[in-house]
Amino acid sequence: MMDVHAPLSLVFMLCSLFTEGLSNSCIGRCGQGVNTAYNCQCNSACVRYNDCCSDYDALCLGATCSGRCGLTHDTTKPCQCNAPCVTYGDCCSDYQSLCQGQTTVDALSAVMQDLWNSDTNRLRDSDYTISTTGSRLFTYVNQTALNKPTFQGLIRLLDNYNIVVGQTEQPTTSELAEVDDFMNTILATPVMAKTFTFLANNGHITNSNSVFRNTLMELWFNLYPRSSTGPTDSSGFEHVMVGELKGTSTVSGFHSWIQFYLEEKNGNLLYESFIIRKEPNMIATAISWHGIKKTKASFFLGTSPEFDMAVYTICSLVHRDSLCKFTLQNQAVSIQTWDIAHKSGYQIGSAYPSI
Ligand SMILES: *[C@@H]1O[C@H](CO)[C@@H](O)[C@H](O)[C@H]1NC(C)=O
Repeated sequence: MMDVHAPLSLVFMLCSLFTEGLSNSCIGRCGQGVNTAYNCQCNSACVRYNDCCSDYDALCLGATCSGRCGLTHDTTKPCQCNAPCVTYGDCCSDYQSLCQGQTTVDALSAVMQDLWNSDTNRLRDSDYTISTTGSRLFTYVNQTALNKPTFQGLIRLLDNYNIVVGQTEQPTTSELAEVDDFMNTILATPVMAKTFTFLANNGHITNSNSVFRNTLMELWFNLYPRSSTGPTDSSGFEHVMVGELKGTSTVSGFHSWIQFYLEEKNGNLLYESFIIRKEPNMIATAISWHGIKKTKASFFLGTSPEFDMAVYTICSLVHRDSLCKFTLQNQAVSIQTWDIAHKSGYQIGSAYPSI
């Protein structure tokens, strides 16, 4: 049955549009001379006189992403609507709301499930055992399963960082080569191939392999200062996959199960207590790393490095600075990502399962 109130509210809406709406809008007035019958103006002089209507940029200059999400750079437009605009700082003001909110939960769930199914490097359930009640979390890990190239690539990077916040990172030539090798191995996996296709098809990156690689490099390996006034001491990879020590009381980041396992084995990490386990393969624990406590470190268990990075990368680009919600293995999953706001471009400040 039709809602009888609808036509009435439509009349009210139209009335208010005519009484205030149109006199405050550039609809049908772009480029017209000054007209004092209106509250605001719509020609180029309005910028100087500071009396442009609020929709002047969008309507008269084309400064909007309406209908332009993911399209390549358009020099005739004052602002852009594809992923590189984040790097170049020339996104239209509605880029975030119009283009980044476009990927539906269903589409996100579909790609995440696809990544999960393609993650043939993930350890099988029989490849590791954990004990949430003992003094060690990992009681067994199949060493052969860690010999896969992407695991070895990640493990080689783990000692490349100065984990103390406030101390400048100075990567050596061989460390940079290790990053390059790691990138080559993960980019060769089906997980990363699917990630590329998804991001390109949904307008989050340009459809180019080199753009994909550069985007990953910027998100994960571009060094930045963790605090806005500090030295260049951090990166997305260091924070998320390695972990950082801030002062004498804070462990920051630390969201890789591989790093957890290895540091526990090396005696640098103490499993303090269990917090929560959620399927598929997510866990949060309290830890003490180099003697410093973290009340909640959450991560995926047994997943491959490329899977973790793919999930966090997609969430960063689709739901920047917010919760990225989807369904995986019929379970609700929430991933939180953060951008480092004080450095231009897009570097991952953090990314982890929100459980
Ligand atoms: C350990 O992992 C390797 C490689 O995935 C596999 O071939 C082997 O059967 C596993 N060992 C055990 C004891 O499960």
